[in-house]
This record gives sequence, C-alpha cells and structure tokens, in this order.
Amino acid sequence: MQIYFELFPLIGAVLLIMGLRNLSHPKTAVKGNSQAAIGIAIGILVAIFYPLETTDNNYLFIVIGIITGSVIGYIAAKKVAMTAMPEMVSLFNGLGGLSAAFISLVWLFNHHTIGDFKNMAIVLLNLFLGFVAFLGSMVAYGKLSGKLKDRYTKIPFATILNLIILFIAIVAIIYFGVQGKLTLNELILFSVISLIYGYTFVAPIGGADMPVVISLLNSLTGITAAISGIMTDNKLMLLGGILVGSSGIILTLLMCNAMNRYLWSVIFGSFSSSAKAKEQAIEGNVKTITPADLAIQLAYSQKVAFIPGYGMAVAQAQKVVKEMEDLLEEKGVEVKYCIHPVAGRMPGHMNVLLAEADVSYDKLLDLDESNEYLKQVDVAIVIGANDVVNPAAKEDPNSKIYGMPILDVTKSKQVVVLKRSMNPGYAGIQNPLFFKDNTKMLFGDAKESLLEILTELKEADL
Ligand code: TAP
Repeated sequence: MQIYFELFPLIGAVLLIMGLRNLSHPKTAVKGNSQAAIGIAIGILVAIFYPLETTDNNYLFIVIGIITGSVIGYIAAKKVAMTAMPEMVSLFNGLGGLSAAFISLVWLFNHHTIGDFKNMAIVLLNLFLGFVAFLGSMVAYGKLSGKLKDRYTKIPFATILNLIILFIAIVAIIYFGVQGKLTLNELILFSVISLIYGYTFVAPIGGADMPVVISLLNSLTGITAAISGIMTDNKLMLLGGILVGSSGIILTLLMCNAMNRYLWSVIFGSFSSSAKAKEQAIEGNVKTITPADLAIQLAYSQKVAFIPGYGMAVAQAQKVVKEMEDLLEEKGVEVKYCIHPVAGRMPGHMNVLLAEADVSYDKLLDLDESNEYLKQVDVAIVIGANDVVNPAAKEDPNSKIYGMPILDVTKSKQVVVLKRSMNPGYAGIQNPLFFKDNTKMLFGDAKESLLEILTELKEADL
C-alpha cells in the first residue's frame, strides 16, 4: 500500500511540471491547464488518504471543506469578468497564504500530529510569510478592485517602518528558533507583527507598481506552500510550492525590468517614493479623427500595428480587432500586435484576450520587437492603452513612470488613440502622446469605434 502513496505524488509532480511547461505557450495552454489540474487533484487525494491512514479522523471536515471550496471556486470562476481576474488571483493567493499560516498554527498547537518536523524557526518563518502573503494579497485585492483607495493607505515613513518590522520578525524567528518554544502570548504577538507587516508592506504601494508586488506575493505563497510541504511530509506540495515560488520570483524580476524598478524597493514598500517633483506641463492641441478617415488611411497603409491596453479588455474589443486584422490582411496590409509586458492588469492579460479571439501567436511582438517594428509602421492604433505608450517615461525625469520602458508609438508615421476621454490610465498621470503632432484621437468605447471603422472599410469597399 505504502508504495502507491509514494508513486502517486511522483505522477502528480510529473503532470504538474508538464502542465506548467505547456502553459507557457498559448497553443498548448489548455492541455497544460488540465494536466496541472489532474496533478494537483492527485496531490489532494494523496494528502487526504495518506496522513489520515494513521489518525483516521476529520473526513467530515475535509469533505465539507472540499465541497464548499469547490462550489465557491466554480461560481467565482464562472462569474468573474476577464478584467477582474487580477483581483481574483490576489484573493486566491491570499487564501493560499492563510492556509500555510494555519498549517503552522496547527503544528504549534499540536505538533505531534503533523509529521515529526521539529524546527521551530522554519515553522515561524512559514507563519510569518503566510500571514504576510494573506494580508498583503487582501490589501492588493482592495486596491485593484478600487475598494481601498490609495489616499487611505498612505503610511508615513513606510520604508523605515517596514525595515524595523522586518528586523523584529527576523530576530523573533531566530530567537524562538533557538529556544525551540514560545508561549501563547508570544505567538499572538508574533502573528500580529506578521499581519502588520503584510499591511505596511503593500499599503503604500500604488499606481503602476501593483503588478510587481502581486507577483512577489504569489511567490511568497509558493514558498509557504513548499515549507508546508516539508512540515506535512507532502512531496507534491513541496514541489508545487518550489515551482510557484521560483517562477514567481522570475516573473517578479522580469516585471521589475519591464517597469524599471528595483526588487529591494518592492520588498521595503518604497515605490511611492518614486513619485518625484511636479510633472512637466503638457502643451499642444488635441486632434481628432473620424472612423471614415481612419478607414481610408488604414486601407492605403502597408504596415499597421495594434497596441492593445487595459481599455481593450474593458471594451471586450478583441474579437473585433481580429476581424479588422483579417479584413486588412485581405487588402494586403501587414498587421502586427505590439504587446507591452504590463499592458492591462495582469501578466499576459493581452495575450490571453487575443488568444481568445484566435489571433495567431506569431503576430504578437514583444517590447523590443515592437519598438523596432513601430519605426516602419504607417498607422499605429492604440486600443485603450495609456501608461504603456506614455512618452513621459522617456522625456520627463519628474514623471512618476520615468524610466519605465514603453512602446514608442511616436516613431510610427501616424498614431491613432482609441479611448473614451482624456482621462489618465492606471498610473493616474497625463499622457503627452495625445498632444503630439502625429497623434490623433478617436474618442468613444474601443469596441464601438472599431466596429464603425470596420463598417466604413466594408461599405466603402476600400
Ligand atoms: P492604462 O494605462 O490603465 O489605460 C487604460 C486606458 O483605457 C484608460 O486611459 C482608459 O481611458 C481606456 N479605456 C477604458 N475603458 C475603455 C473603453 N471601454 N474603450 C476605450 N478605452 C477605454 O492601461 P495600459 O496602457 O494597458 O497600462 C496598464 C497599467 O496598469 C500600467 O500602469 C501597469 O503598470 C498597470 N498594471 C498592470 C498590471 C499588469 S501585470 N498588466 C497589473 C496592475 C496594474 P478612458 O477612460 O478615457 O476611456
């Protein structure tokens, strides 16, 4: 019997790794998702039957937990809008952190029932990281969903405060680790400190910096899952945790690069200090274009670039974009998509939407490829993107986003921006692109504007 329990986690682990590998490409992503899900399901079943073999209790709790969790998960996944996906990821991530913290608490209260793991320092580290991931993710959820406004989460001297709290937590982990025990009051105090750090770590971070912190919180949850795997002698949880933790760190570093940020400033929650002096005033006039005129320009172009952003997700315009790509290509126009790594509200947001609309993956250009391509483009159509095309990141040293790599659409012959108003994007700053000589605005919902352009293209038989 024992041999099967050893074998199943191995099968689950292989499926999980294959799943993650396949998830990295849109063509194989659906298959990868199923493989990973089966791998995790095997892990859950093994976790249910393996440790309880010796203690034979708690099945009722487990069944109730699984049914409740499955129902909530199913309804949430069915109901959530694509635009609200990052909030949901944050929420679920936080629950992962909380579970890890609970595993540590259970061990501390009743450690003889979970494996024979005795290292107090590791258990406290898990408790700390679990609570930080939990409350940090809840704050991130509140901020992303707009329920928690940035102005209510400002913390004076956040960097110093965070350093002090982190220092106290590390000293406590080492001290109690050496002691090998702690009282209930000390445990409560340690838990409160961990929760406070979860809050003070994420609360001051705002604006365009959120994606990095979410990815970092994901990797923290991965690390806690790995530690919990060691504590409960669950090899699949250990492996899954390591995979999530390490891929989360890689993603965090890539995002830091994409936004020109340093990881240390994420860890100490000091992003907000990057807002510098007053931004440069923007001068110039805004010019508009009609769908009919744009249709003519597009029909006579050789190369056209679509630059999707968060607004495309809001408008759910991806299928119309694809329709326009097909029509333009029929007319001999080359069409490519320029994708910024943090366009939208979650990593890969644009890729997912475009894949849903059957846009071929080889038409998507990454940041560097896009900036090369944009130099040759006749018309660059910015579809609900704002921060990721904001030239202030290159031109204005006082700008909050100065130094962040952008899609340099101004290099194209003509830029047309599809959005509803002159409102700023996520970072909350004005965009000088809208005032450039070669930029024209087409105001309105992106999907409706695109449908009008499509109609013009078809009706006028351009
Ligand atoms: P944003 O800068 O947020 O701009 C989106 C624009 O879309 C807005 O200016 C809005 O203008 C427009 N819009 C909204 N609804 C629209 C609709 N129905 N039709 C047409 N336009 C619409 O988007 P971005 O350029 O994609 O940049 C993403 C930002 O989010 C970055 O600052 C990034 O750091 C941040 N962020 C990214 C992530 C990840 S991982 N991708 C996660 C969190 C935050 P109007 O209101 O005038 O229409």
